[in-house]
Amino acid sequence: MKSIIAIRGATTCEQNAREHILEATQELLLAVIGENSIHESEIVNIMFTATPDISAAFPAEAARACGLSKVPLLGAQEVAVTGAPLLCIRVMLLVDKELPRAMVRHIYLRGAVGLRPDLVGVGALRNINIAIDGPAGAGKSTVAQNVAKKLGLRYLDTGAMYRALTWLSLQRGVELRDGTSLSALAEKLAFNLNSDSQLTLDGRVLGDEIRTPQVNAAVSLVSSHGAVREIIVRKQQQLAASGGIVMDGRDIGTTVLVDAPVKIFLVADARERARRRLRELEALGHRVDLAEVVEQIIQRDHFDSHRAVSPLTPASDAIVVDTTDLPIDKVIRQILDIVANKQYEL
Ligand code: DC
Repeated sequence: MKSIIAIRGATTCEQNAREHILEATQELLLAVIGENSIHESEIVNIMFTATPDISAAFPAEAARACGLSKVPLLGAQEVAVTGAPLLCIRVMLLVDKELPRAMVRHIYLRGAVGLRPDLVGVGALRNINIAIDGPAGAGKSTVAQNVAKKLGLRYLDTGAMYRALTWLSLQRGVELRDGTSLSALAEKLAFNLNSDSQLTLDGRVLGDEIRTPQVNAAVSLVSSHGAVREIIVRKQQQLAASGGIVMDGRDIGTTVLVDAPVKIFLVADARERARRRLRELEALGHRVDLAEVVEQIIQRDHFDSHRAVSPLTPASDAIVVDTTDLPIDKVIRQILDIVANKQYEL
């Protein structure tokens, strides 16, 4: 008896335009066919669906352009579903082939990797480390958290560790220019990640207490001490030792995870970053003035990028992404694209 297997895949395209849809679909089809070593004569049928925001006609054209001239093709338009991915193309290949179920590779590319974290998480991506660096307000934490969630990886906000040390030092009256006393305190801190990727200090989840204007104003000085950084970096590397983590910070690509296969450096205009920080502070109930926040951001940038130890700078192999005019979901998709393409190199 013949056994027909179904191989699935999905991807996203940049916009509802013929060339974008053709390019994304061809990449997907070639990956499904290549990764499963399928010959055209083994394909019984290919079915495409497209989300309502893109034309359902082009995926079939893409299959013909891939040289699949004899395979029956079906194309359908999906109905609108709240929360569904945007600009998404799905494919199902019915294949007449001896392929054990466990060997079938379903392929999810670009923004569609978020649809199947279980699949991307079982391959080379399960242990991938991703470094996301950049100045304050560039969108690092939102982007890093979302990327981690979509890929089923852990997430660590490394700035929170410097903030926690700063907060404790302010509470205990430790002199912030005294690197020796700060290091002694840093060494004692027991950081961990709970199952929701929340950073804990001595078993307690760290909250808004580390995000006050007082901590904001003092944290650059605390994090500029070489001896302090050495200790905190070691603790960060311990948390990353088992792999499968997205870290955001300033020196992740250059110092903490130098071997990370994906390194992103987010940048954005200082005024735009100040506006974002202002919204964050207001949401926490702090009243602050935009000009003051701009000034603080510029000062902090200058301090962070001119300090002697691990200054804020992109790693030579980092991809720089400007988020000034880019909505956050697009930034996330761009990074998922970068990660998805990496999985074939690992
Ligand atoms: O990302 P954030 O604003 O929470 O970071 C707080 C401070 O900590 C920032 O001024 C620079 C410092 N920091 C650092 O030096 N290295 C890191 N990896 C993360 C943060």
